[in-house]
Amino acid sequence: MEKSLFEVAGWSEEDCILSLGCGAAWWEIKQMAENAAGEMLLLDPNKDVLNWPDVEEGLSYFENHYQTRVATPIHIIHAEASAIPLAAATVDQVWLLNSLHEMDDLEAILAEIDRVLKLDGCVIMEEILTGGIHDGCGKRLFKLNELIELFRGVDMRVDFQSSKDHEADYVKFVR
Ligand SMILES: C[S@@+](CC[C@H](N)C(=O)[O-])C[C@H]1O[C@@H](n2cnc3c(N)ncnc32)[C@H](O)[C@@H]1O
Repeated sequence: MEKSLFEVAGWSEEDCILSLGCGAAWWEIKQMAENAAGEMLLLDPNKDVLNWPDVEEGLSYFENHYQTRVATPIHIIHAEASAIPLAAATVDQVWLLNSLHEMDDLEAILAEIDRVLKLDGCVIMEEILTGGIHDGCGKRLFKLNELIELFRGVDMRVDFQSSKDHEADYVKFVR
């Protein structure tokens, strides 16, 4: 059965969420317009895709669409996921939405996720889990067993998995 991101992740109004490889972050802004969090940290090294004018455009679009104000404080971080400029154990949820398969240096990225995530935190991943080549970026996609193996390296396991749509899955990892 298909689930929404909120049904899978279920964040609270106090939670600090860090989205790694968020791109222009329209999806994250939409989520915050629908369900507020304590803080939304948007991380992507590419300043052409992640920047304030585009985030503000997203905010205006969804505030107008939902006739609401996005109350969640939003911060932009231009950095690599392998060197996250945050203190240890400060984040409740790490989101990797259609981004992990594009990243190199996965061991360092997993170590950073493990470092910044609170003990009872979770990782929410959206990926197409075919193991094929992604049309969009030409990179190889994961199979579920490869993700499970990757997260086992930082003592995390699958807590929940569901379809997002006809193509992609959501997978939630916890300690
Ligand atoms: C396919 S896009 C996904 C964007 C967005 N999450 C979405 O679902 O539309 C992948 C993003 O990962 C970012 N990225 C690639 N390598 C990265 C890294 N090492 N650390 C953080 N972000 C990275 C790219 O800049 C790009 O914006």
